[in-house]
Amino acid sequence: MASVRSVSKSGSSRTQSASTGKNPKPLKVADLAADSLSVDQIIQGDCLAAMARLPAASVDLIFADPPYNLQLTGELTRPDQSRVDGVTDHWDQFASFEAYDKFTRAWLNEARRILKPDGAIWVIGSYHNIFRVGSALQDLGFWILNDVIWHKTNPMPNFRGRRLTNAHETLIWATRSAEAKSYTFNYESLKAANEDVQLRSDWTFPICAGAERVKDDSGSKAHPTQKPEALLHRILIATTKAGDVVLDPFFGTGTTGVVAKRLGRHFIGIERESDYVAVARARIADVVPLDEELVAPPQTKRDAPRVPFATVVERRMLEPGAILCDPSRRHRAKVRADGTIVSAEATGSIHRIGAIVQGLPACNGWTFWHFEAGGGRLAPIDLLRQKIRAEGV
Ligand SMILES: C[S@@+](CC[C@H](N)C(=O)[O-])C[C@H]1O[C@@H](n2cnc3c(N)ncnc32)[C@H](O)[C@@H]1O
Repeated sequence: MASVRSVSKSGSSRTQSASTGKNPKPLKVADLAADSLSVDQIIQGDCLAAMARLPAASVDLIFADPPYNLQLTGELTRPDQSRVDGVTDHWDQFASFEAYDKFTRAWLNEARRILKPDGAIWVIGSYHNIFRVGSALQDLGFWILNDVIWHKTNPMPNFRGRRLTNAHETLIWATRSAEAKSYTFNYESLKAANEDVQLRSDWTFPICAGAERVKDDSGSKAHPTQKPEALLHRILIATTKAGDVVLDPFFGTGTTGVVAKRLGRHFIGIERESDYVAVARARIADVVPLDEELVAPPQTKRDAPRVPFATVVERRMLEPGAILCDPSRRHRAKVRADGTIVSAEATGSIHRIGAIVQGLPACNGWTFWHFEAGGGRLAPIDLLRQKIRAEGV
């Protein structure tokens, strides 16, 4: 069942179930109550009108893939004279840059109103529009955190041979304002999942193709700019938590909804064209959400409960009198009954004695000190702390 979160005028919210079944019918803009937020729903209509009906400070993240205003003129053909499937749709056409800027600023204004104070926005675009979007974001008070290059492994060639192959798109990630400091960025898990190296701002993915690309009855692409699910997966894993609400005002085939549902996030999609809404509904209905435990964020070092070394002694994981040493067995200290340790030089905490024996100003005693783990093997005392945490401190 789709859930509907009501947000009262004072800003508090509650969640209730809508009796709309597994594949709820799209909502019309006129169906939207001004003080409630229907999540896991597609709103069919103009995004400006629909966003104006969404409550202020109600969504955690916006992902927007707006019209690019590609300004394509004339038919584009390959050397074999076959026609190139460019984006020539009416929804991508604007009379002028001024008209595009006016539209961009209008939806970004609404986006800013709808975002929670620590919410954030991603906007994807190409050289045709992304610089205009970037300046609008800054003018409206958003705070740009990064721009990300999506490097395409399989870009469309430049058929006329008059320019470089256009092999990337740009994403801008911005908070609602410069003051927003608690925006979601799952730094530690991103690093852990990236060979323990910080994730960089250049991302490589193929464009959406193969089985993932939705086709219509005649075998043609159902949508000219369907985005790869991998791209949305990374964005949602990086900058949302399970249970967050993600709004996509240019829903297209519903890629954001597909990935959000799979990853245990809520989505709201707005799309004007009924054919695309139908594709998005069908795609989302097929998605099976992952188990909660697979999408819950891992505990960060900062969240982990504090464990005093005394707990290790109280629980008799190490007996008073046990000898601790560093990995090279150069320094030694003895565990005391009160949870302090004593070396040849002094008595004190695992951290202080670790620092003193090394002649350093500070030391993390949990990783410096080791105990005999049997068979001549040493293990860091941090292992004992982890056991205590796993049992629940
Ligand atoms: C670049 S496409 C988004 C594609 C989408 N990310 C996907 O993966 O399928 C932009 C979409 O915005 C829709 N659109 C354009 N202007 C709109 C408006 N004013 N209100 C609602 N939807 C609009 C278009 O119909 C189009 O499907």
